[in-house]
Amino acid sequence: MTTNEEMLGRADVNDLEAILAITAKDVDEMVHSVKDNADAIFTWNYEKGERPALNKLYEKAKGAQWNGETDLPWHLDVDIDKVAANAPRDKDADPVFIAAQRPGQPLANWSDKEWNQLIIESQNWTMSQFMHGEQGALICTAKIVETVPWIDAKYYAATQVMDEARHVEVFAKYLDTKMNGHYPLNAHLGMLLDDIIQDSRWDMTYLGMQIMVEGLALAAFGFMHMLTEEPLLKQLLRYVMSDEARHVAFGVLSLKEYYGELSDAEMLERQQFAFEAAVRMRDRFLQQEVWERMGVDVRTMIKLQLENQGDKNEDPFQQLLFSKIVPNCKKLGLLDRNKGWLRTKFGEMGVIQFEDWTDTGEEYDTMSLEAMANEQAGGAEVA
Ligand SMILES: [Fe+2]
Ligand SMILES: [Fe+2]
Repeated sequence: MTTNEEMLGRADVNDLEAILAITAKDVDEMVHSVKDNADAIFTWNYEKGERPALNKLYEKAKGAQWNGETDLPWHLDVDIDKVAANAPRDKDADPVFIAAQRPGQPLANWSDKEWNQLIIESQNWTMSQFMHGEQGALICTAKIVETVPWIDAKYYAATQVMDEARHVEVFAKYLDTKMNGHYPLNAHLGMLLDDIIQDSRWDMTYLGMQIMVEGLALAAFGFMHMLTEEPLLKQLLRYVMSDEARHVAFGVLSLKEYYGELSDAEMLERQQFAFEAAVRMRDRFLQQEVWERMGVDVRTMIKLQLENQGDKNEDPFQQLLFSKIVPNCKKLGLLDRNKGWLRTKFGEMGVIQFEDWTDTGEEYDTMSLEAMANEQAGGAEVA
């Protein structure tokens, strides 16, 4: 059986030193190159609609394109300080912040000024990681166009390439024109993106990007959309979510067919890959770059975070980020094959409780721009 050491490079998932040892290597370079190790596959079967669910998704996508320049209210001014001042405060509710404010701890003497700055930095960092993740999705879906053997999937993936270009564009524009610059790619997220791109098997691009990275992004966008009062950002996120719901569905619908045919040994490799991706994504949310920029002791902050989340079930927000991933993994058979290997791992991470939440195979209709227009016409709150 493969060990944590082999999968993650550390025996203990919460090994502080090993987590801190992963740092971005080429932050001063303008480009980063990765070998993608895959054959481009032609198919001579042009039978459109042979996979009806993918064909339906493709037809939806063609009619759901929007323009990042003209469909969003870029003329609105964004007062970042005001946004920060109005943001919900969790300094007295979040167990990490409570622990970090005790005497002698890094945030013990913080005033409103530092707390406001933390909100601004966290928002900038989060948006920056979204932007870099979107570029990862752009590259991954371009790779899927080349490597997937089915014509319906090539057609659909081509629409997703356009979607992801638009997502990179709108996050970059928001950071550039409404915030003050951006953060570099987080090292843990970077490691995961590289792993996904390097894998030669076409389904691993799907599993890593469509199921894991985009499943988490969809949940994270949903939170930010719900919490933000800033109208431009709220609309931007709602538009992006309408596309992302389709993207995750694309992953679920494609892999459902393929994973039904795989042997136990082949499935175990997929289960391990999903676990590795989940750990990398959890590590990225430790946001070590924000603590560095705030000038507080990074090691102590990460230690407090590790002690107050993960398997202790004390941070519902962190766990909820996995609320789309876990039911989708269940639908694909990834939780239960090989005597529930991934079920056990997700149990240890404290996220298995989401297994029976709605999977994303069909959810995209309720998140479409059409559904949004209907909600607005009916005077209802945008979901
Ligand atoms: Fe995207
Ligand atoms: Fe996407």
